[in-house]
Amino acid sequence: MPSVYIKTYGCQMNVRDSEAVAAQLLARGYTLAPSEDQADIVLLNTCSVRDHAEQTALNKMRALAADFRRSGREVVLGFLGCMAQSRGEELLRQLPGVDLVIGTQKLHRTAEYLDDLLRGRRTRVVDTAPEPGSESAIREHLPAGDGSGPVTAYVSIMQGCNQHCTFCIVPQTRGPERSRSIRDIVTECRELAARGVKEITLLGQIVTSYGRRPGPDGRPGWLAPDEPWPVPEPESAPKRSPFVRLLEAVHEIEGIERIRFTAPHPKGYGEDLIEAYGRLPKLVESAHLPVQSGSNRILKLMRRGYTRERFLEIVSRLRAVQPGIGISTDIIVGFPGETEEDFQQTLELCREVEFDNVFLFKYSPRRNTPAATMPGALPEEVIEERHARALELINSIARRRYAAMVGRTVQILVEGPSKKNPHRMMGRTRCNKIVVFDGSPRHRGQLLDIRIVRAGNYTLYGDPAIVGFDSGAPVSASSPAGPEPAGVPAG
Ligand code: 5AD
Repeated sequence: MPSVYIKTYGCQMNVRDSEAVAAQLLARGYTLAPSEDQADIVLLNTCSVRDHAEQTALNKMRALAADFRRSGREVVLGFLGCMAQSRGEELLRQLPGVDLVIGTQKLHRTAEYLDDLLRGRRTRVVDTAPEPGSESAIREHLPAGDGSGPVTAYVSIMQGCNQHCTFCIVPQTRGPERSRSIRDIVTECRELAARGVKEITLLGQIVTSYGRRPGPDGRPGWLAPDEPWPVPEPESAPKRSPFVRLLEAVHEIEGIERIRFTAPHPKGYGEDLIEAYGRLPKLVESAHLPVQSGSNRILKLMRRGYTRERFLEIVSRLRAVQPGIGISTDIIVGFPGETEEDFQQTLELCREVEFDNVFLFKYSPRRNTPAATMPGALPEEVIEERHARALELINSIARRRYAAMVGRTVQILVEGPSKKNPHRMMGRTRCNKIVVFDGSPRHRGQLLDIRIVRAGNYTLYGDPAIVGFDSGAPVSASSPAGPEPAGVPAG
């Protein structure tokens, strides 16, 4: 059977979509190639959020098409996802080697379209049409090859975004908000728990708006079509948003030890969600709060729907409920009209909040977004210079926060070998910090208390030599770990 290689650009939602496409292809008899050179089909799952992401995927496709042309290999080339959605047909004209363009609502048709191409029923396919119900199609997970499936899993709970921030292309690429039912999501999470998954990350473009939009027939967006409605509820039932109801439902699942979610919107951190951090022990002490700017003037131009003051209030409410909570954010520098004073307010906000992690972006104009035609576009050098200044501050704050973890004992969920050094194991704290330690593969999937002995760049190093911890030699003969390296230097 033909083999497929899928390369993913962009966010966790794209990673999840690629996985679901891969699972779908395996079920249809395709195999997964270990690299593009060994594949009969190469699919690029693309990102449109900044121009750089689009250019990277376009350059990659040009290089692939040229390589295959030179070597005379017949390879099917396709674009999936956000850029496929926003550029559609135009991609076939720009890149003559490309055979397939599948938008964000048609990913579940990938196998069908590849069959058509391979059997010669069609020579090219472009499908970017909206499809009702497609939000429920990102469901399948890859089978665990050797009985040791992943410890963590992504679960897509909704698609699309109705927020229409003026800089953002996502409403165009992902469409309006559509949610899966709580019942459907819980069934998927239960299946994952049965396979040994311990941590679930609930995914969507704006998860805090989960279930808020009514379904096509006016029923609540979080209810399956065959469930009774209206739902009988006692008068005294506390008012909770559909997203908090979903968290509660996933929280009930035996075997799931940790729940994360991304990406939320700050305005979605209502009292019910903040209170959930204190009430639901499986909901980890970690919150991503994309602030974008520290200036009220810019926040308004961005159409973010909150002020700097409201943002700071959310942070302090969260810290009141969970003092050790890890807080990360997204920031855009160089939005049209951003003055040095606006930028200073963003820096000041970073000093005030002391984020654990910041994803810092240079503003990139996106087609058909209001910001792209706003006055006051900044020269590249100004954006570069502000980006460098912000990065320096952000890194120095994060270094301090990571260093403050040294000497503390924290719980980690061991995910597998460290990426940089496969002889070491890697896990994540509840507040989402990576911890590397000298463990063995049998620690995979375990929740361990570990003492932090050293802090590096966005990485902590743990000491395995604590009471009750057996860093022992690998137990299985097939262990890839080999000899255990020497301990991490203390301090
Ligand atoms: N330019 C730069 N960054 C952007 N983001 C979204 N759109 C743009 C853009 N046009 C960033 C935001 C968002 C993150 C996923 O990407 O910070 O939160």
